[in-house]
Amino acid sequence: MRLLSFLPLHALLCSAANASEYANSPLVYPSPAGKGAGVWSDAYARARGLVSQMTLEERANITRGFTVPGNTCAGNTGSVPRLDWPGLCLHDAGNGVRATDLVTSFPSALHIGASWDRNLTYHRGLYMGKEFKAKGVNVLLGPNAGPLGRTPLGGRNWEGFSVDPYLAGQLVAESILGHQNAGVIATLKHLIGNEQETYRRPYFGVEAASSNIDDKTLHEFYLWPFMDGVKVGTASVMCSYNRINNTYGCMNSKLMNGVLKTELGFDGFVMLDWNAQHDVNSSNSGLDMVMPLGGSFGTNLTDAVENGTVDASRVEDMAIRIIAAWYLVGQDSKNFPFPGIGMKNVTEPHDQVDARIPESRDIVMEGAIAGHVLVKNNNALPFKKNPVMLSVFGYDATIPATKNTDVLFELGYTSSPEMAQVALGTEAHFDQAARGGTIVTGGRAGANGPGYITDPLSSIQQRARAGGTWVNWDLTSFDPSVNAASDACLVFINAIATEGWDREGLHDDFSDGLILNVAAKCSNTIVVIHTAGIRLVEQWIEHPNITATIIAHLPGQDSGEALVKLLYGEARFSGKLPYTLARNESDYSVYRPCGLVSPSDKDPQCDYTEGISIDYRDFDTKNVTPRFEFGFGLSYTTFEYSSLSIEPHQELSDGVGERYASMGDELWETVAKIEAQITNTGPVAGTEIAQLYLRVPNRPPKQLRGFEKTSLLAPKESSTVHFELTRRDFSIWDVVAQAWTIQTGNYTVWLGASSRDIRLIGNIEV
Ligand SMILES: *[C@@H]1O[C@H](CO)[C@@H](O)[C@H](O)[C@H]1NC(C)=O
Ligand SMILES: *[C@@H]1O[C@H](CO)[C@@H](O)[C@H](O)[C@H]1NC(C)=O
Ligand SMILES: *[C@@H]1O[C@H](CO)[C@@H](O)[C@H](O)[C@H]1NC(C)=O
Ligand SMILES: *[C@@H]1O[C@H](CO)[C@@H](O)[C@H](O)[C@H]1NC(C)=O
Ligand SMILES: *[C@@H]1O[C@H](CO)[C@@H](O)[C@H](O)[C@H]1NC(C)=O
Ligand SMILES: *[C@@H]1O[C@H](CO)[C@@H](O)[C@H](O)[C@H]1NC(C)=O
Ligand SMILES: *[C@@H]1O[C@H](CO)[C@@H](O)[C@H](O)[C@H]1NC(C)=O
Ligand SMILES: *[C@@H]1O[C@H](CO)[C@@H](O)[C@H](O)[C@H]1NC(C)=O
Ligand SMILES: *[C@@H]1O[C@H](CO)[C@@H](O)[C@H](O)[C@H]1NC(C)=O
Ligand SMILES: *[C@@H]1O[C@H](CO)[C@@H](O)[C@H](O)[C@H]1NC(C)=O
Repeated sequence: MRLLSFLPLHALLCSAANASEYANSPLVYPSPAGKGAGVWSDAYARARGLVSQMTLEERANITRGFTVPGNTCAGNTGSVPRLDWPGLCLHDAGNGVRATDLVTSFPSALHIGASWDRNLTYHRGLYMGKEFKAKGVNVLLGPNAGPLGRTPLGGRNWEGFSVDPYLAGQLVAESILGHQNAGVIATLKHLIGNEQETYRRPYFGVEAASSNIDDKTLHEFYLWPFMDGVKVGTASVMCSYNRINNTYGCMNSKLMNGVLKTELGFDGFVMLDWNAQHDVNSSNSGLDMVMPLGGSFGTNLTDAVENGTVDASRVEDMAIRIIAAWYLVGQDSKNFPFPGIGMKNVTEPHDQVDARIPESRDIVMEGAIAGHVLVKNNNALPFKKNPVMLSVFGYDATIPATKNTDVLFELGYTSSPEMAQVALGTEAHFDQAARGGTIVTGGRAGANGPGYITDPLSSIQQRARAGGTWVNWDLTSFDPSVNAASDACLVFINAIATEGWDREGLHDDFSDGLILNVAAKCSNTIVVIHTAGIRLVEQWIEHPNITATIIAHLPGQDSGEALVKLLYGEARFSGKLPYTLARNESDYSVYRPCGLVSPSDKDPQCDYTEGISIDYRDFDTKNVTPRFEFGFGLSYTTFEYSSLSIEPHQELSDGVGERYASMGDELWETVAKIEAQITNTGPVAGTEIAQLYLRVPNRPPKQLRGFEKTSLLAPKESSTVHFELTRRDFSIWDVVAQAWTIQTGNYTVWLGASSRDIRLIGNIEV
């Protein structure tokens, strides 16, 4: 009854879309059985063989979780002792193995998004996968393509690569290939609309937020990277905590049966996000596995088969999908360790299971370097000569005081211990800055375990020893005094984000004040920001004494060493922003997470009325000038773009008016080839990331549809960049036909160094 009192107000607040349109997701039954198509065929044949020998109880047993006393895996499935099937260990997450010893802290996904490097992303995924395998983890709970970053305050945005679905899609696909080639099951998460932490789950009688997404927006934006992941064979997908059109993600038959398993033909298994809302009928809706315990499955699932609520064939399909994933990545092999073998309580006696692989060191360092983005440089960098005196300021310059075995280490809160004090689901307000030391990862599930952290100050000091530099430091004062003979002053600040809570804002007064205080006294002030998301710079970016600014993201364990290489010009900046850095918070089409509209409201509604007008798509449409646009990043050299060649295939025009299925081969066929030449016209070697944007008629002015990172080009050296555009790249989603289609019209091709630094323009008439 109280619900009614806020309805009119709510209806008023959601502008274009009528909330009643989003009543509930339609029911889509029955759940389609996996077909075992393509790469899956052999795995399915073997899985069918093994599952045919299992009883109903055994089949149901592997669809649920158990606590296994001997390991600290985030989840363990049941086993089938009679057939010697050992069960699966599942563990966090997409940035490295969390909360254990003898593993690597890889650069976080957002950092790798800033590298725009497919090959690097693949190898990061491969070596990370090998570490999970060495620890006996069967299922790696990543990568992340949701949240994409609808709101820049999103607590988990840093767990994904980019707010742009094309860039995110390319990099989740490379990660999945890497993980699965290493022998572990990848989990593409979270399906879908998991775009905020505020009301992410039902807490204290309030429902989880409902992401009300129309079908066109779903396909052209949020589902896009999931298509890429399913296309390369992700063996698992995780359904999300939130509701979509008022139906919980893990109960949503339209999404799991309809979109994922029918439209995308997904042959792997759908896994529940830990303790997410579901019921026994979720199995009919397409859910294949519950975690971390039995949830509504277990004996309820076998009872439901007995009483006819769930068909026995559904439970067989659930088991086949799980076992097929196990075969797909080769876990039946004798060389796969026993599940959870290296996942032990580190304070209790345990063997040293060293998962680190010496060959991965170069990738970890290369990745740490590649995600740094230089956004301002008034000739301050690289250092021209060995500096005689450097001054270092800011809480983020040094190592946190503890990286031991406790909850701070497990949750990635070593620099923000206050975050560990609060229970999930309770309202909390944290300092935006993690003032307890440098950050190399964000918080909770996506955190990873560093063996060491090279922090900025100690890396600078080591270099000082070698080069005879005098170093001053004051990491605690808000208004430090400055040695006036300093060649340069480096100020280190950060912005933390964590699963569980959205961010409070995009800049904080303490950090901005510190920067301004140093800049007032030092005419060569260099700002370095470690950040788990978008961090605004408006309070000081135009200050004349601020000569350089580096967005250093979350570099992982090699943070300080990577930075020093960049400062001294031994490594080169090539990173570019995988999001738009605005001048003001209000410039983002969606800024705040959605919430309750009145004190009695128990039903938070998030209407995605902005459609695909997110980040640069929106800035371009509304002609809002950002501080630093999507795709922007400086280099130590300059590049010239020339010789644009555009070669549309006849099939592109021939296909106008046709309808293409999401996973049909035709949608993924190359229908245009584009090339250009990039020449290093500057004084030093460098690497360029060339970006291709397409103007699709009736859509935002530009949408990313290609990118290529050149090899390291010496001065005057050229290289050709190639882009192969598929039918999907030209298509829009036709809601009525439930298929992709290409419109007639004039498609502009923009090739440039960023979304606003366009160097070559061409067009394709279709
Ligand atoms: C959500 O509702 C919108 C509006 O009716 C519809 O276009 C879309 O297909 C629905 N999606 C799901 C997953 O229910
Ligand atoms: C179910 O899995 C558990 C945990 O691995 C195991 O102890 C039990 O024996 C299994 N039950 C059956 C019926 O195989
Ligand atoms: C891809 O990365 C690997 C590992 O760093 C490297 O050996 C290989 O040369 C790279 N390939 C290309 C084409 O850059
Ligand atoms: C459970 O799933 C079946 C489809 O197998 C459906 O017909 C039924 O309506 C569902 N029950 C509930 C309560 O949603
Ligand atoms: C299933 O339902 C019963 C109540 O009927 C409950 O006691 C049991 O623990 C439930 N869960 C599992 C995993 O069997
Ligand atoms: C069948 O069993 C399930 C699991 O115990 C239960 O949730 C459901 O209500 C039962 N349905 C009928 C019709 O008895
Ligand atoms: C590890 O064991 C200690 C007791 O030795 C216990 O306090 C702690 O909760 C355990 N940690 C985990 C992750 O199980
Ligand atoms: C820049 O730094 C110098 C000290 O080197 C200081 O005198 C000057 O006031 C500063 N400029 C501004 C605008 O703060
Ligand atoms: C954005 O604008 C508001 C209102 O003018 C202002 O209070 C706020 O400080 C601005 N944000 C930034 C990052 O400058
Ligand atoms: C298509 O657009 C290009 C510029 O992007 C323009 O030069 C060309 O004339 C246009 N063609 C038509 C048929 O409008």
